[in-house]
Amino acid sequence: MTCSAIWTVANQKGGVGKTTTTVTLAGLLAKQGLQVLLVDLDPHASLSHYFGLDENDSVKGVFDIFTCSEKLTVDVIQPCIYASHIDNISVLPANMNLATLDGQLGQSPGMGLALKQALHCIKPWYDIVLIDCPPILGVLMINALAASSQVIIPVQTEHLAIRGLDKMMQSLLLLEHKLSKQFVKTVVPTLFDKRLRATASAYKALHQQYHQTLWSDVIPIDTHFRDASAAHMPASHQFPNTRGVRAYAKLLTYLQQHKVTIPHVVG
Ligand SMILES: Nc1ncnc2c1ncn2[C@@H]1O[C@H](COP(=O)(O)OP(=O)(O)OP(=O)(O)O)[C@@H](O)[C@H]1O
Ligand SMILES: [Mg+2]
Repeated sequence: MTCSAIWTVANQKGGVGKTTTTVTLAGLLAKQGLQVLLVDLDPHASLSHYFGLDENDSVKGVFDIFTCSEKLTVDVIQPCIYASHIDNISVLPANMNLATLDGQLGQSPGMGLALKQALHCIKPWYDIVLIDCPPILGVLMINALAASSQVIIPVQTEHLAIRGLDKMMQSLLLLEHKLSKQFVKTVVPTLFDKRLRATASAYKALHQQYHQTLWSDVIPIDTHFRDASAAHMPASHQFPNTRGVRAYAKLLTYLQQHKVTIPHVVG
């Protein structure tokens, strides 16, 4: 089966649930029997940490791909990908060196397309690739967006975060223009606390401004996500029957049915 979907999870604002969204959707997709590749583009390597891949400097990863002076081939990329302890999930990890990339290579011609080229080489091995971005619009996020056609934008349901979303959407528009492509965009309200009046009013504001791209449901606050992260497990596997995971399952159904064409396993 060939890979027909590359999704980027991005927002310039930090702490809005990007990594949690990436890992939980990956867990749910893996449970469907799909081969999932996770790409960690955040120098803080939270996603790699989830899968125990940030413990030492000998772990190869995205940095090696970006700084590779040879032509990007399967032989160069394969050693940078690790099978994880979760069935059907492989990881292309990050490390702190990635933080130097903007300065080192940000201006080099073609740098924005390195990840796209790398993923093109290994496409046939995966049904879907999910890319977790750092909360900065720089060469890393640009690489992710150039490689993908769908963008999932988690946004914390609070007014300050919505201001951050405005910036993110403007950046996406600029990039669409620059890359001459249009993304399928899905804004996902996260960390929704139904007890707070401020959350309800923030959701209303989100709905007014972004109803065309807004997923109509929410991801609730659920402490199981923190516990799952501490256990180095996707919440989909550690706490499958919790409110938070059920909400992500609904989101996935939405993404699969309404927005994105990805293969379903037959039989
Ligand atoms: N729905 C949720 N309910 C409760 N806690 C959550 C939820 N989503 C995420 N968290 C917790 O909030 C924190 C930030 O989440 P996460 O790391 O996914 O955000 P991020 O956008 O990737 O952050 P960064 O920008 O720093 O990479 C983590 O401790 C995570 O476990
Ligand atoms: Mg993160």
